[in-house]
Amino acid sequence: MLVVLAHPETGSFNGHWADASADAAAREGHRVLRSDLCAMSFDAVESADHYAQHVSGELFDPLKAQQSHADSRLLPGVIQREIEKVRSADWLIFHFPLWWFAPPAVLKGWFDRVFVHGLLHTVEQRFDHGLCKGKKALFCVTTGATDAECAFNGKEGDVQMLLWPSAYTLRYLGFTVLTHKLVHGVHGYFEGCEQQQLESRLSTVLQQQAGLIKGFDTRDTLQFNTDSHFDAHGTLKKESPGLSSFIRHNR
Ligand SMILES: Cc1cc2nc3c(=O)[nH]c(=O)nc-3n(C[C@H](O)[C@H](O)[C@H](O)COP(=O)(O)O)c2cc1C
Repeated sequence: MLVVLAHPETGSFNGHWADASADAAAREGHRVLRSDLCAMSFDAVESADHYAQHVSGELFDPLKAQQSHADSRLLPGVIQREIEKVRSADWLIFHFPLWWFAPPAVLKGWFDRVFVHGLLHTVEQRFDHGLCKGKKALFCVTTGATDAECAFNGKEGDVQMLLWPSAYTLRYLGFTVLTHKLVHGVHGYFEGCEQQQLESRLSTVLQQQAGLIKGFDTRDTLQFNTDSHFDAHGTLKKESPGLSSFIRHNR
């Protein structure tokens, strides 16, 4: 299992939650790999500077640079190592807080740089034919906002929709994505009784993480349209189901 943490503070709830996942997986006999992106000072910004063969002044095409450097085995060491971790793990678990209605930038940058064109996806090998087919991924996410605010019609936006682009990134690569594990109302501004209630709620989440890891293989999965649901233009066929607010039929 690969445990990815996108939080700058290992002593945060997210940090402890990632540790709980890693510990539980190890106790279950899994080989546990970790990517603590901030502790690694992972550079989330894709740029020409990462590519040894890029000629200064020439147009930088990220997909082509990724592919050519993968072909010539000249990807940066950190990217090669992250790719190896993704390849060797059957299960991936991502721990992160919601920041500005999205995962922290370091995780988006990890997707941008690690999901290398030519190694983890190609034009022919994506979606139903994705190279990560058979692997499972889970997002464990905290929000400062409450359950109601993060729900359908909630003031902070439906968190299922906010996480859809990230989940779909994994679906693009072929992953099966499990239903998200969400913990709401996590922030440092509670006092007194409310703070005690939060601490007790969070400690329950940590205690229950072993059960979540045990049930990883049987956890419900997110539903995505299959390739056959689209016509030759890539448009959802009339008879295909609209499974998300992002790919839907006109009412
Ligand atoms: C830059 C930043 C942006 C944030 N944006 C959101 C947000 O869009 N929605 C939300 O519910 N909480 C937001 N929060 C609150 C965090 O989600 C919350 O502090 C975090 O989940 C707490 O987990 P931690 O104790 O592990 O840091 C934001 C926090 C920061 C620092």
